[in-house]
Amino acid sequence: MGSCFFLVLGVLSVLAELVHSKHAGITRHYKFDIKLQNVTRLCQTKSIVTVNGQFPGPRIIAREGDTVLVKVVNHIQNNVTIHWHGVRQLRTGWADGPAYITQCPIRTGQIYVYNFTITGQRGTLFWHAHISWLRVTLYGPIVILPKRHIPYPFPQPHKEVPIIFGEWWKANTETIINQALQSGGAPNISDAFTINGLPGPFYNCSAKDTFKMKVKPGKTYLLRLINAALNDELFFSIANHTFTVVETDAIYVKPFKTRIVLITPGQTTNVLLKTKSHFPNATFLMAARPYATGPAAFDNTTTAGILEYHQPSATTTKNKLPLLKPALPKFNDTSFATNFSNKLRSLANAKFPAKVPKKVDRRFFFTVGLGLNPCPQNQTCQGPNNTKFAASVNNVSFVLPNTALLQAHFFQQSKGVYTTDFPANPPFKFNYTGNPPSNIMVNNGAKVVVLPFKTSVELVMQDTSIIGAESHPLHLHGFNFFVLRQGFGNYDPKKDPAKFNLVDPVERNTVGVPSGGWVAIRFLADNPGVWFMHCHLEVHTSWGLKMAWVVMDGKRPNQKLPPPPSDLPIC
Ligand code: C2O
Repeated sequence: MGSCFFLVLGVLSVLAELVHSKHAGITRHYKFDIKLQNVTRLCQTKSIVTVNGQFPGPRIIAREGDTVLVKVVNHIQNNVTIHWHGVRQLRTGWADGPAYITQCPIRTGQIYVYNFTITGQRGTLFWHAHISWLRVTLYGPIVILPKRHIPYPFPQPHKEVPIIFGEWWKANTETIINQALQSGGAPNISDAFTINGLPGPFYNCSAKDTFKMKVKPGKTYLLRLINAALNDELFFSIANHTFTVVETDAIYVKPFKTRIVLITPGQTTNVLLKTKSHFPNATFLMAARPYATGPAAFDNTTTAGILEYHQPSATTTKNKLPLLKPALPKFNDTSFATNFSNKLRSLANAKFPAKVPKKVDRRFFFTVGLGLNPCPQNQTCQGPNNTKFAASVNNVSFVLPNTALLQAHFFQQSKGVYTTDFPANPPFKFNYTGNPPSNIMVNNGAKVVVLPFKTSVELVMQDTSIIGAESHPLHLHGFNFFVLRQGFGNYDPKKDPAKFNLVDPVERNTVGVPSGGWVAIRFLADNPGVWFMHCHLEVHTSWGLKMAWVVMDGKRPNQKLPPPPSDLPIC
């Protein structure tokens, strides 16, 4: 009976594949109802914004080549948008999601259908809200499987488990960020980190809210790690176990072994976990805590889950087993961070070539870091010396317009929305990683860089030590880029390019600009639209560490951005 059932299943799946093989992919439909839900964490019940009442939100599962349709219905009082972080959105910029960049927000009672096709990507990405700080609870995994009959370039795992890190505040985060922006001070730090929404045993009232992963001995598991935290890069490890890193940001990498993974907000990392061959005499904690380099206070707590070995037959004695904790680096261990990122390399083989742009059309040098804004008259401010905290790229602190840049661009109505004079270089030279210049006030505005279709871009991002050096995870929408090199101190345009890796640099969508250092990347601007670039530390995005690239249409019809869908929200 059982074998007959599986035979029928087998025949059905063969038939299904015959049908599918005619097409590039299938269409997958999802419905996201944005609504409030009561959730209890850290001894306290709180009403949070969710998708379908779930926290973390539902998984999007698709194969490379599939089209994804997500109908988002906004049932809450706040404006909402959803971003499909890392999805390239080839000629579908209208579905990218950042509020006031590619779309006006979905207002209360409104509906918007995000419609995009996943092309040339496979691995793990994630979706999250992209307006104010709503992504604190509005996030979930995107799992992209390879095309049918295409295996992974590593051993087929026994099981795949998404592990999504989050950050939890007891208080209402919309109130926190709005008050901080008003007063100019730093927003309150979080109260906990979470693994799949659960803080774990190191927090009050949290032992029952612990993520448990049940495993069998001698098997290979694929962990899909996602950092959806707002403001903290994280170290992650499992006691007495080793990972093999196989993919980052939905691109395969040359496998390497490590006991600890560093993952910035906005990054995703797939690792293989080989379990011990025999039932071990211990239980193992998995844990994550911050890598923090900045001048400000940070949430120095640890989230933990349990890796639980399961023997089907044996009567369980696991309650008596000792609990082993993983060793994690010190919070400011930049040498670990450097070693770890230097190990990441593209596969760069015949099947998965690294298409690094060899010639460069335009070179940019951007400083990224903090700065200040003056306190408005008749107000007292909470920033240093009665100022307001700000953050900038080339000293421009980006101010979101009241309408979306992409609409303004498409309908050629940029006047009063944005200007095209974003500086290609800092407005003046100084010792970026030394003593700050005397004036550290930023300029405010909505400035963009305009790029002709297929411009090959080289961009060096330089951290500044203004107010304090800090690692900034920079995220680019609409593209992957190659990470050619990182270094410390000030970038030297004469000497450093000779050391660029043009052979197998890692390809990704989010990269940490080293604390007190620089990173050089290249990308090909082959996707027409308006593409946001920002620090994925949400507090820095709020302070203005963001900008946008406008990529013009190409000549051919398939190089142009189509008109917006009819249900695109209006401002
Ligand atoms: Cu995940 Cu614009 O961000």
